[in-house]
Amino acid sequence: MENCNKAIGVMDSGVGGLTVLKELYKLCPEENYLYFGDTKNLPYGEKTKEQLIEIVKEIFDFFEKKEVKAVVLACNTTSATAYEELKDKYSFKIYPLIQIVSKCVAEDKGLTRIGVMATQATINSHKYSQELKKNNPQIQVFEKSCPLWVPIVEKQIVEYDENVVFKGYLEDVLNFKPQKIILGCTHYPYLTDKLQNYAPRDIFINPAKLFAEYIKEDLCKHNLAAKNNNGEINYFASSEPEKFANNANMFMKIDSKPELVKL
Ligand code: DGL
Repeated sequence: MENCNKAIGVMDSGVGGLTVLKELYKLCPEENYLYFGDTKNLPYGEKTKEQLIEIVKEIFDFFEKKEVKAVVLACNTTSATAYEELKDKYSFKIYPLIQIVSKCVAEDKGLTRIGVMATQATINSHKYSQELKKNNPQIQVFEKSCPLWVPIVEKQIVEYDENVVFKGYLEDVLNFKPQKIILGCTHYPYLTDKLQNYAPRDIFINPAKLFAEYIKEDLCKHNLAAKNNNGEINYFASSEPEKFANNANMFMKIDSKPELVKL
């Protein structure tokens, strides 16, 4: 098969990466996609760098066997912790979210105060801060971890106090007086309707759109854009594929049944 007509792998710990897949599919509906939701290892944000490298290796090995042309790390946490370690070890092209999105955000030289809300592992790595400053040294960054937000989106937590979980987390960031707040975990854009009760909706950056635009352009630049595919999406989950499908369906129409892949 011609390289450009191979599928694109997209991965995250659960349904978060669908925020990216949705934007990618809008821009590149002719591409074929394999979406891997690593529900077994959720949440990534509580894991160590070493654990995350091992996990991503297994998923990349799966994608290698499927002969994908590219893999989209639709996950901030693994972009921050595992990408550098693994980037030269596979035959496919890899798109890391934080590195790409930080470059796009920093292009607006008027943005000098940025808040970042992300998982504990992403915040510990300070990857957003490093990457934003690399692209514009004038940028000041305030980073805040939001450990309960992924379990809320994945329905591991169903009862919580919105004042503590949303207002509380946001307060620290808003005190910094940011011009924009990056939702630095692909699960977080699902919470925008809640977050807008405590901060103006347009202060939040959902990186998915910028990320998808970059990927589309880059695929074309490297002659990797599909010529005659049919826009098929296949889903894989590392545990409880039905639960993954139910959860995913609340955000995006899932047409095919996710397949269980044991890691
Ligand atoms: N959605 C992922 C991210 O962007 C991982 C969230 C998690 O499993 O903690 O960081």
